[in-house]
Amino acid sequence: MGTKRLRRRARHLLEWIAAARADLGLWLTGNADPELPPRRLRFAGAGDFRAVGDELKELLVRFGLKPGGRVLDIGSGIGRVAIPLTRYLDADGTYDGFDIVRRGVVWCRRHLTRRHPNFRFHHVNVRSSEYRERGVSASGFRFPFDDASFDYAFATSLFTHLVLAETRQYLRESARVLAPGGCLLATFFLLDDHAREALPRLSPPFHFPVDQPPLRLADAANPAVGVAIDEAVLIDLIREAGFASYEIHHGKWSDRPDGVTFQDLVLCWR
Ligand SMILES: C[S@@+](CC[C@H](N)C(=O)[O-])C[C@H]1O[C@@H](n2cnc3c(N)ncnc32)[C@H](O)[C@@H]1O
Repeated sequence: MGTKRLRRRARHLLEWIAAARADLGLWLTGNADPELPPRRLRFAGAGDFRAVGDELKELLVRFGLKPGGRVLDIGSGIGRVAIPLTRYLDADGTYDGFDIVRRGVVWCRRHLTRRHPNFRFHHVNVRSSEYRERGVSASGFRFPFDDASFDYAFATSLFTHLVLAETRQYLRESARVLAPGGCLLATFFLLDDHAREALPRLSPPFHFPVDQPPLRLADAANPAVGVAIDEAVLIDLIREAGFASYEIHHGKWSDRPDGVTFQDLVLCWR
């Protein structure tokens, strides 16, 4: 096993131990939140799990998600957004989420699908330098859904872990599975003039030190840790994927205090 892979595994183990200690403390004091996955299973996303999930759900609602919609969550993690959505989607609404990390999918099935059968979680066999060593390449992956089968798709902190060919493929697939008029809400780290100028002032990993145009990476040896993409190139990919229109709302990450959320938000319509 290479040194880099060993180092990544060691980092994951240390994170797991710290989280398991926190879980134990919460359990001993009776403060564990029964609705949320234990900390040691939260492999996806930093920060306050419930607060971030609620904020993302509010963004989806603000940008067009309807309670009765057919919703796709691309890279559903361990239910951070699905949990608040169980209180928003009504009986006509359906949610399908897929992810490459099996333990997230299993936890969501056990804890969410059991109580909300209109919430379904799918495991897909795709590899990632950060999340899963085995599987097919994301750059050729076909989403396991029929054409035009969703009204709304979202991908929060997913494209920020994909390289160029993977981003192209996931945008194409998102367009394919959305019905006419359907919307994709996705978050990115976008490189425009403002962001490029801000990069040297930003704290790691948001200074994206590795320049691989049109991307900047947080770590050359593990691209999926964090990816920023040139905004103009992304716009070309959105058009090439078959979206009719798009809107960009920049986020706070690149030193824009009025940003709509932390990452940049991109809305694309079929
Ligand atoms: C930062 S987490 C965000 C998870 C979730 N979207 C959220 O906001 O809580 C990134 C997620 O993307 C998943 N992921 C990475 N590459 C993927 C791929 N090619 N296809 C589907 N999911 C992927 C990871 O397993 C992880 O769950």
